[in-house]
Amino acid sequence: MPEPSLEAQPLCASADLVERGDAVLFDVVEFGRTVQAFALRFDDVAVAYLNRCAHVPAEMDWQPGKFWDMDQRFIICSVHGALYDPPQGLCVGGPCVGARLQAIQLREEGGHVYWYPSERFQPASNPSSDLTEPAHEHR
Ligand code: FES
Repeated sequence: MPEPSLEAQPLCASADLVERGDAVLFDVVEFGRTVQAFALRFDDVAVAYLNRCAHVPAEMDWQPGKFWDMDQRFIICSVHGALYDPPQGLCVGGPCVGARLQAIQLREEGGHVYWYPSERFQPASNPSSDLTEPAHEHR
């Protein structure tokens, strides 16, 4: 099993991810750009993906955090109706069958959900940022 390249990042409380409920949205930095990701729970397993359809690179929720189809069985893209299998992010219906969402690794522990950065996805707020605040001395 590959080791995560960076420390796990706190995402939300486990209770925030209700079975087949609204997703928790969060930002990640992909190749220097801040983009949106989402986490949700299906069959008691928390999963997370980039909020980007595999058909056309568009955000998929029909309202913020609303990703389920009418039967709450599949993640649906609101643009052209692609259906994704929640555990794997695999498109099983619509215009991009066989394509996959970009998965983000999660871990649940002690009632909290954490996500793992990777080479591709980095935390949006990096405490080791090299932005330095100028010192303003008022004398
Ligand atoms: S953009 Fe998602 S199905 Fe076309």
